Amino acid sequence: MKWLLIEILLLTLAVELLTQNTRFNERYSWSTLNFQFPDEQSRQAAINSRDYVPINNVPLGTEIWRDRFFVTVPRWLTGIASTVNFFTMNNAGTSLGRTNAPTLVPYPNYEVNHITANETSFGSKIVSVFRLKVDACDRLWFVDTGLMDIIGTSRQVIAPRLFIFDLRTDRLLRQYTFNSSDTSEGTLFGGNIVVDVTANSCNQAFAYIPDFGAYRLVVYSWAENRSWRIRHPYFYFDPFATPFYVGGLTFLWVDGIFGASLSAIQGDGYRTLYFTAISSNHLYAVSTRFLRDSTLAANTSTLLEAYRFLGTRGSNMQTTAHMLDERTGTLFYTLPNRNGIGCWNSVRNAHSYTPLTNTVLATDDVTMIFPNDIVLDDADNVWLLSDRLPVSNMRGLNENEVNFRLFSARISDAIRGTVCEPSRGSHDGSVNFNGPNRENMNNRFGSGYDNTQVSISEKKYETLSQFLKAGGTNGLLEKPGKSGRKLSSHLVF
Ligand SMILES: *[C@@H]1O[C@H](CO)[C@@H](O)[C@H](O)[C@H]1NC(C)=O
Ligand SMILES: *[C@@H]1O[C@H](CO)[C@@H](O)[C@H](O)[C@H]1NC(C)=O
Ligand SMILES: *[C@@H]1O[C@H](CO)[C@@H](O)[C@H](O)[C@H]1NC(C)=O
Ligand SMILES: *[C@@H]1O[C@H](CO)[C@@H](O)[C@H](O)[C@H]1NC(C)=O
Repeated sequence: MKWLLIEILLLTLAVELLTQNTRFNERYSWSTLNFQFPDEQSRQAAINSRDYVPINNVPLGTEIWRDRFFVTVPRWLTGIASTVNFFTMNNAGTSLGRTNAPTLVPYPNYEVNHITANETSFGSKIVSVFRLKVDACDRLWFVDTGLMDIIGTSRQVIAPRLFIFDLRTDRLLRQYTFNSSDTSEGTLFGGNIVVDVTANSCNQAFAYIPDFGAYRLVVYSWAENRSWRIRHPYFYFDPFATPFYVGGLTFLWVDGIFGASLSAIQGDGYRTLYFTAISSNHLYAVSTRFLRDSTLAANTSTLLEAYRFLGTRGSNMQTTAHMLDERTGTLFYTLPNRNGIGCWNSVRNAHSYTPLTNTVLATDDVTMIFPNDIVLDDADNVWLLSDRLPVSNMRGLNENEVNFRLFSARISDAIRGTVCEPSRGSHDGSVNFNGPNRENMNNRFGSGYDNTQVSISEKKYETLSQFLKAGGTNGLLEKPGKSGRKLSSHLVF
């Protein structure tokens, strides 16, 4: 695996301090992560053998099921105690200033998460997990990337595998090894895995799994126990969105499709998959109708016409993780270059994705350094994890500082007075347009963060097909003659 990070500069923190978070409350925080070991003796042994190096354990993916808060810890560095974990939520974390750093409990148990330096039987282990998804059928889905010591020697100790657990019994329902045709050099299943299912159709589930390192999307069908791989130009990065500025570090990332979330079921019976590349300020969409069928997914017409470019959020609005709240239509996303969280309302502004219809909800240059994941709970709260991951990977964390934080807000409070609030009278899900002045006011005064300083060229084309019809070859290629020239049935790129 090639590591996609190029550190170009090491700066001292010279950024203008901009701290604006009045909407999110800090609920849990850690300097280093503590884990539940079988006993104190095992804990000491793991520390002595350096199988557990506390400062190297960085939380990354989050998910919630009932009162269980799941947290992954990928093996970026050595000394990771356990990759899939949870803690039980309590109510003690609401007042600031109190230590509320719950101990992580390995899931489904310590044994499968425990990997020693001389480990040989990886088939019975869970190696390195990034994101988690709980579906409508009380199942926990995740991909074990099989990658260890990602920053160091980067060892692929076992092929990537999809795991699906029954949360009601904690039993493993299914383990699926991806076919070699689903991966290639650079493959890293680190983005949002999303599951397309309803509580009434648990056997008709599909998982959409972004591969941000190889710029592909893998689809898994539960009914067929089979997967296929999709490629599209929209899965790549934008070269001018590759610079990142995080915690005093400047670096370039060339990461592709990563943030992914599903809309509610639309009139035609399918959801819409919204997706972004990390190194990009754009949002794209495709109906899952074109993903669920492997033949249709590979059809040239699908690639040219079904994938839609929705627009651009603004500059320095790169995002990693997504989460869509079906009730309000709000798409929440992390903003690593803004140390914060942003949003867009996919119902109210279904036809307008611009710097004016996106807004920054909260930002904090100390506590929100590298927002990494977002999750919603059953009580209509939105949660945000910040974890300083690039600082850990490039410079190392300081165990005397608070490094990892979980914030929460009621969704209605988080979006009140902003462009993400559903418009009045649109509870039927119909789309309402608001005049630009109101949007502008909300953006400037509702969130207090101006997102429109740099002009972004307007969106001209939605699909590649529209681009081609408008002469999108830029005159470099032969134009179709009078008889017309059909596009080749296999796109090559
Ligand atoms: C592997 O390492 C552990 C300590 O991490 C040690 O207890 C165990 O004996 C070793 N096993 C083998 C087969 O070397
Ligand atoms: C699904 O496919 C995997 C191959 O990775 C196989 O091991 C497993 O038994 C299959 N499960 C079912 C339910 O067919
Ligand atoms: C699995 O991968 C191999 C090698 O890339 C390929 O030939 C084969 O068709 C793939 N199988 C499936 C079911 O996709
Ligand atoms: C691709 O899709 C188009 C439009 O739905 C259809 O007309 C065509 O037959 C399909 N091609 C293949 C090879 O399936």
